[in-house]
Formats: sequence, C-alpha cells, structure tokens
Amino acid sequence: TLPVLIDCDTGIDDAIALTYLACRSDVEIIGVVSTGGNVPVPAVHRNNLALADLLGISAPISLGAARPLVQEPMFADDTHGPQGLGHAVLPDPGRSEDPRSGAQLWVDTARAHPGELVGLVLGPHTNLALALEIEPELPRLLRRLHIMGGAINHRGNTGATSEWNFAVDPEAAQRVLAAFSGAPVRPVLGSLEATESVRFTQDTLDRVRQFGASTGHPVAMILTEALRFYFEFHRADGFGWTAHVHDPLVAAHAVTGQFAATRPLAVDVELAGTLTRGQSVGDELGRWGREPNVDVLRDVQPESFIEHLLATLGDGLAR
Ligand code: BDR
Ligand code: CA
Repeated sequence: TLPVLIDCDTGIDDAIALTYLACRSDVEIIGVVSTGGNVPVPAVHRNNLALADLLGISAPISLGAARPLVQEPMFADDTHGPQGLGHAVLPDPGRSEDPRSGAQLWVDTARAHPGELVGLVLGPHTNLALALEIEPELPRLLRRLHIMGGAINHRGNTGATSEWNFAVDPEAAQRVLAAFSGAPVRPVLGSLEATESVRFTQDTLDRVRQFGASTGHPVAMILTEALRFYFEFHRADGFGWTAHVHDPLVAAHAVTGQFAATRPLAVDVELAGTLTRGQSVGDELGRWGREPNVDVLRDVQPESFIEHLLATLGDGLAR
C-alpha cells in the first residue's frame, strides 16, 4: 500500500478527497494535517477528526498552524459554509488530536518512511513551509509531492490572478516551490485551469445521494449536504448549477497517475505585486533560464475521472 500524508483545509472538496483516499484499499493514510484556509483551523480540524472517525482512519491528525506565515488569515465561508462542510452537520469527534504541530507531523512521518511517503497539499502551504525549516532535507525524504494550488497564466478564483491555496499564504507556497527546486522529486501541481475542468452535475450529486440511501453510510449523506451548498455557491458566483471539485482530482492523480498528463514548467509565486500578489507565474517560454521545478497537470479527462471517483466512493462506502 501507498503511505500518504494529507495536509488539507476541509473544506468540501477536501472532504471528498479524504473520503476517496480512505475508500482505496491500495492507499494507507498515515497522517492528516489540518490547516487554516477555507475556514479557521479549529473548524477544519473538527471536520477532519469527525470524518476520520466515520471513515475508520486511525492515523494521527494534527492541528496545523492557525495563521499564514506573513499575512492575516482569510476564510472562504461563502464557498464552503461557516463550518467548512456546507449544509452538513457532523457528529462530535470521538477522538483527540495528535499533540504534535502540523510541521512536526510532516517531518516525523517523512523521516519514518524515507523515500516512500506521498505528500498531498490540498490547502495553504503553511505547515509544509514550517516543516522545511525543521527538516531542510524533506524534499529528499518524500517519494512524491502533489499540490492543489495556483492558476498558471489563468484567471484566479480569489484575486484577479491568484488561486485560493496560494493566495491565503503566498510566502509559504513560494518557499515550498523554492525548496523543491532541483530536488529529485519534482512536485506535481494541479492548478486551477486543470482542476476547474472537473465540474459536478446534478447527476453526480444524485449519485452521491444514492450511495447514502443504499449504504446508509453517514459520510455519503455528509458529502451530499456539503455538495448541495457548494452547488449553491457556484450558482451564486455565476457558474450555473455545478461545482468545481478541485482536490479529489489531485488526490486521484497522485495515487493512480491517471486522469491527466503533466508537463514540466518553471513556476514561481508573486509576492510583491499590488494587484497580483499570490499569483503563480509559469515561465512558458523559458525567459528566466531556470530548470522546471514542477510538473503541471494538463489534458484532464474529467468524465473518466468523475466515473472513477464515483465508483471508488460507491465501493468504499458500501464496505
Ligand atoms: C482550492 O481552494 C479551496 O477552496 C479548495 O478546497 C481547493 O483546495 C481551490 O482553489
Ligand atoms: Ca482545499
């Protein structure tokens, strides 16, 4: 089985990614780090603890950093609801958190599985940036790193040009990309222009709801109620009756290598721009003279990905 650590700001699409990974028999979730982002870190953490109970995830779950490295925190409760999971009401978690910081959990988990751990960052990069201060060798300890973040030469979903996970903590994103430059593993970046091609429809929503009816699994009902809110947000934001489901595509590509191709690219994060702070800039024409430091997802196959996701959730939640 593939050992995976997930750092996430759960978050509706984070919850789907976590459920997807928990449903896969070839994946072992060996660490979860809660990071502030979509909602404040205590709410993210409560969601992760409660979902872990319901999904049978026994891995340590750490309360990550409450604040970005430099700027003030910001939250997206309009997108994910005040508690982070839309209309869903979660039971109180029956377990407590791991006492270690999110950064320390990254470091300890990577050191315990040198060359094996697949790291997934599905929220702001604060904890991983702090982990790199504790263990600068971290890029050489991981098997792979997969990131949902950025919008490469594409409009943003937060600022005019910035994507949420990079916009919340631009310094952290910049430090992570810099630390992995030249490392043996090149991070895989699922940026907005790739992840936004995954659009759930009413049919997708109905099928998730049916898993709840047929299996009685509480997580199917939680995801249905969360997604209903996510659809309402997207409609209010002018996208129609749909939902952009970002994080699960990155999770599925990380563990299967399928549903998208990749292309190497030099990418950096704008920190100084008064209009463009947090923007991920891709050097398409090699003007910087730098080696590529990430593999960017491209040519996404959204239909086959959504079928795969639903099949995995259907099987996993029926077990
Ligand atoms: C990212 O921002 C969050 O709201 C989502 O969970 C995803 O990780 C998309 O920009
Ligand atoms: Ca997220």
